[in-house]
Amino acid sequence: MRRGAIVQLLLFAAVAGVIATIMALYPHWLPPTASEQADRIGYVFWYVTIICAAIFSLVAAILIYSIVKFRAAPGDDSDGQSIHGHTGLEIAWTAVPFALVTSMGIFSAVVLARNDRTGNNPLRVDITAQQFAWSFKYPQHNDLATTVLRLPVDRTVRFRLRALDVIHSFWVPEFAQKQDAVPGIDTFVTITPNKKGVFPIICTELCGLGHAAMRSTVIVMSQQAWSKWVKSASKAAGGGGGANAGRTVFDQNGCGSCHTFKPANSAGKVGPDLDKLSEEAQRAGKPLEEFVRESIVDPNAYVEKGYPANVMPPTFKSLPKEQLDSLVQFLISGSGGAK
Ligand code: CUA
Repeated sequence: MRRGAIVQLLLFAAVAGVIATIMALYPHWLPPTASEQADRIGYVFWYVTIICAAIFSLVAAILIYSIVKFRAAPGDDSDGQSIHGHTGLEIAWTAVPFALVTSMGIFSAVVLARNDRTGNNPLRVDITAQQFAWSFKYPQHNDLATTVLRLPVDRTVRFRLRALDVIHSFWVPEFAQKQDAVPGIDTFVTITPNKKGVFPIICTELCGLGHAAMRSTVIVMSQQAWSKWVKSASKAAGGGGGANAGRTVFDQNGCGSCHTFKPANSAGKVGPDLDKLSEEAQRAGKPLEEFVRESIVDPNAYVEKGYPANVMPPTFKSLPKEQLDSLVQFLISGSGGAK
C-alpha cells in the first residue's frame, strides 16, 4: 500500500473518530450517578462505547476510502477483478471481535456479580408497588412505613419488592438499577447510594392509567440525619389518633398520588378530588361518612362521573379497622367537617 493511501485512511478515520466522540460525549446519555452500582455500570458503558467508537472509525475510514478510490469511471461497464480470500485478514477480523466481545461479557459479568453483593449488614427496605403508588417499610426499624423513601448515604440497601396488583418496576435513574415488582413473588435489588441528594423514583413498567403519575422521591441523607429521622418518624407513627393518624394512613397508602386533597397537600389527578367529597356524596345519594367508607372498601359501588371504574385498587378493604376509621375521619374533617 502506498504511503498516500495510508495517510488518507488515517485522515478519514480521524474525522469519523471525532464525530463518534462528539456523539458519545455531548448528548449526556446517562444521568449523573449517585450509587456505587451506577458507577460500575458507567465503567462498562464507557468501555463498550470506546470500543464501538474505534470500530466505527476504522469501518467508516475504509468505506469512505473505497467509495472515493475504487469508483467505476463513467461509462465503464466492465466487471471488477475477481479476488480470492485473504486468510490473514479473515483470521484478524474474526479473532479481534471475538476477543473484544468476550472481554465485554466478562467485564459485565464481574460488574453484575459485584453489584449484587450486599455485605454483611445491609439496610433492609420493603417496597410495595400498587396502582399507582409506592410505599416503603423498614423491617429493621419496627416496620416504619413511609411513601417518601429516605436512605443513609454510603450504606448498602437490600430492597425487597412486592406488587399488589400488576407488574410495576422500580427505577431511580441516578442509581442505574431497575427491578420489576411482580405479583406473587418477591424480587430483590441492591443499591448503595453514594451521593446525598433528592432523586425521583419512577415506575418504569406500563401498569395502567396512572402509570405516568406513579412516582415518588428518594432522599439520600447523612447517616446522622437519617438516624434522627428514623427516631422521630417512629415516634410520630406510634402516637396520635383521630384525624392525625388518618393523615398518616393517607400518606402511607399513597392516596395522594392519585387524589387531590388539600389537608394532605396532595394534587393527584387520577381519581376524584377529595376536597369535594360532600358534593360527591350528594350525587351518590348517601350520607357523607357512609359514602367515604364505602368508596374506600368498595370503590366501584359509586364511580364519580368522568372517572373510569376499576382504577382504584380494591386492596384498601384489608386496612385494619382503626386505620380505616381514622382515615375516614381525616377525609371527613377535611371536607368541611360534616359529621
Ligand atoms: Cu406502576 Cu407503571
